Amino acid sequence: MSEMKNIPQHIAIIMDGNGRWARLRGKERSEGHFAGMEALQKTVYNAADIGVKWLTVYAFSTENWGRPQAEVDGLMELVCTGVEMHTPELKKQGVSVKIIGDKSRFSQKVSDALARIEGHTAGGERMTLVLALNYSSRSEIQTAMQELARRAKAGEIEPEEIDEKMISSSLYTAEMPDPDLIIRTSGEYRLSNFLMWQASYAEFYFTDVLWPDFNREELEKAIEAFSARDRRYGLVK
Ligand code: IPE
Ligand code: IPE
Ligand code: MG
Repeated sequence: MSEMKNIPQHIAIIMDGNGRWARLRGKERSEGHFAGMEALQKTVYNAADIGVKWLTVYAFSTENWGRPQAEVDGLMELVCTGVEMHTPELKKQGVSVKIIGDKSRFSQKVSDALARIEGHTAGGERMTLVLALNYSSRSEIQTAMQELARRAKAGEIEPEEIDEKMISSSLYTAEMPDPDLIIRTSGEYRLSNFLMWQASYAEFYFTDVLWPDFNREELEKAIEAFSARDRRYGLVK
């Protein structure tokens, strides 16, 4: 705990390895996803307890629709049960939930669940939990570019006015600070289409731990590693 001198304001996590966790135990992939949700629940309260203000988690990518239908259906069902199970406690703990991603592709049932968790937890000030669902960084940027082009065509803005700030505020993450620390579990070393614009000066932390096994100790290790980093932002100290 003593090594966590510098607590990142915003941590983003690529929660990977549920399937391998299940396979190692002779279980179905769906059981890995359920265990992954439990790891997420613990991580949310651990992060809030440590003093993290924003926690963004990659829960379902745009590419994940291409998985077997039964797995996709199971994940969507898990979103609905997750909302039912966890909304009251999140509200009680002062955690507000925000969704980033293209919400238009979800079934009515999933859309309703997402609206419910956002609505019921709104105003929670201890920490914001951002769920990236049907999220892809490239499609996020594409949507933002289309919106800016529309506004330019309508004469609301001049193309020369488009600066980094305007682009940032056209993304799903408009009101959020950029992530300070990005964690990926399961020994994979890639972004998989996650927060590419926002990650410009993020610190990265990779661990072989599979997501369902991620716990307070692992979170503290990641924050300790972050604390020891020297963020230069291209400058000379
Ligand atoms: C991450 O675990 C969860 C989602 C992508 C929904 P995976 O399901 O990708 O697990 P592995 O990578 O197959 O082990
Ligand atoms: C990234 O994990 C997406 C989520 C964690 C939701 P994947 O398992 O889908 O990514 P790849 O296929 O290994 O790049
Ligand atoms: Mg994976």
